[in-house]
Amino acid sequence: MKSVSCAILALLSISLSSGCTKTSSPSEEVIEYARSATPENPETAEVYQRSCMACHGSGTSDAPLTGDTNAWQPRMKKGMDTLLNNVVSGTGGMPPYGLCMDCNAAEFQALITFMATPAQI
Ligand code: HEC
Repeated sequence: MKSVSCAILALLSISLSSGCTKTSSPSEEVIEYARSATPENPETAEVYQRSCMACHGSGTSDAPLTGDTNAWQPRMKKGMDTLLNNVVSGTGGMPPYGLCMDCNAAEFQALITFMATPAQI
């Protein structure tokens, strides 16, 4: 479906077609999913909604969007230990502890796993 529309755009305009090869911006469906998705575990959900969702659930932030495989795959490749370290110390626009000062490593790991899980769309 997506490749068909890209092919049509490519025929219409070479400059427009470059938008299709950019895989980093999430689709409307993923943005929609991220807006409302929450972890199943109630405790993880509570922390997610309180601390992470404002940035990771919103397509307007630089944060990798919840459920956006393209955004999370390269980050997951760094390994969970590196990601946990970056959450604790902060990285780029990501504040230390993701604003959850009382979260422990297991909670962060559950939150990361949830956010990196491909959107159910
Ligand atoms: C104020 C906004 C904000 C909040 C709140 C926030 N994040 Fe982030 N997060 C970001 C941004 C922006 C990035 C991208 C940082 C970069 O790579 O430059 C990011 C990146 C990450 C990454 C990837 C780090 C890496 O090494 O690639 C993880 C993991 C993460 N956030 C987890 C969390 C968790 C867990 C929470 C909640 C406890 C949280 N974030 C809350 C903005 C936020």
